[in-house]
Amino acid sequence: MGQEHSEIVICMGSSCFSRGNKQALGIIKKYLKERGLEDIVLFRGSHCFGECEKGPVLLLNYQKHTQVTPDKVTDLLDAYFSGS
Ligand code: FES
Repeated sequence: MGQEHSEIVICMGSSCFSRGNKQALGIIKKYLKERGLEDIVLFRGSHCFGECEKGPVLLLNYQKHTQVTPDKVTDLLDAYFSGS
């Protein structure tokens, strides 16, 4: 999977935010910065996706990932950006 034109959208709704996306936000920012991906990956927050019970939720290139707790974020990004 290519790294260009990637987009990460993190749910900033109150449920996801309090259940882990507050921490995930910092983890993702740091991840992109450390790997020099800030210029090619659009990273933004979103309002509630309406799937709070499956949260924390984030979108990785339009693909929805649920129950992405902070301890799973790095593995998810590694899998995506390593092309596996
Ligand atoms: S707060 Fe994230 S889906 Fe509702």
